[in-house]
Amino acid sequence: MTAKLAVNECTKTFGPTVALASTTLAIEPGEFVSLVGPSGCGKSTLFNVVSGLLRPDNGRVEIDGVDVTGHSGHVGYMLQKDLLIPWRSVVDNITLGAALTRGVTKADQTQAVDFARRYGLGDFLDHYPHALSGGMRQRVALMRTLATNHDLLLLDEPFGALDSQTRLEMQQWLLEVWSETQRTVLFVTHDVDESIFLSDRILVMSPRPGRIVSELVVNLPRPRTLQQMTEPDFIAVKRQILDLLHGTVTV
Ligand SMILES: Nc1ncnc2c1ncn2[C@@H]1O[C@H](COP(=O)(O)OP(=O)(O)OP(=O)(O)O)[C@@H](O)[C@H]1O
Ligand SMILES: [Mg+2]
Repeated sequence: MTAKLAVNECTKTFGPTVALASTTLAIEPGEFVSLVGPSGCGKSTLFNVVSGLLRPDNGRVEIDGVDVTGHSGHVGYMLQKDLLIPWRSVVDNITLGAALTRGVTKADQTQAVDFARRYGLGDFLDHYPHALSGGMRQRVALMRTLATNHDLLLLDEPFGALDSQTRLEMQQWLLEVWSETQRTVLFVTHDVDESIFLSDRILVMSPRPGRIVSELVVNLPRPRTLQQMTEPDFIAVKRQILDLLHGTVTV
């Protein structure tokens, strides 16, 4: 099977700073893969390279077997600070991608309304971001990413700013969206529990200059439940990741 995403020996340097050391990874269609690693290790840089916003110094990015190195427009990308536009309503924020590229069609509008209704924002279609809770805003930002209709989604710490209870709700919601819409997800988080709860596989990165130092397969059954988070299998994976992170983090 052709990988949905293949990154081959990509590197990226900013002046004297090696932001990303040689990185190779492959993600299968429909997989949910998380990247964890210390702050500044190059996670967002890797996402910028995969999305084509940055051209790597070396290496190659392939989506569905096609070389897209340095070319944007092939992934749905939710940036680490993905802000909603304050003067656009929920629906108009969801259709922002189309508005910026080719113009919003009736079909885009209908899809945005469908997403908002299906994912709990049906009563807020015409609301502006200031009238939404933090969790709702993150959901709109995620729907905006879904609405680009790309199979591959890059989500860079989408729940980083949320309180732990809202975060758990959003994680369950994301798994529901992922299984319903059958997308492939590459997800960045600092939260080890979150990475285990969501993922099929976890890639652990070293401190800067970052590279992938380890890979763990999460064999917990799906659909995942909150109860699993306190069970021995979950804790065993958590211990492995914490060991890897503490073995590599310089304090
Ligand atoms: N546009 C840029 N110009 C110069 N340096 C950059 C640029 N983007 C990133 N860097 C540097 O590259 C390194 C990796 O940054 P990056 O944002 O990829 O880290 P990260 O793993 O996403 O960190 P965090 O977890 O804090 O979001 C850092 O040292 C950062 O200062
Ligand atoms: Mg980052």
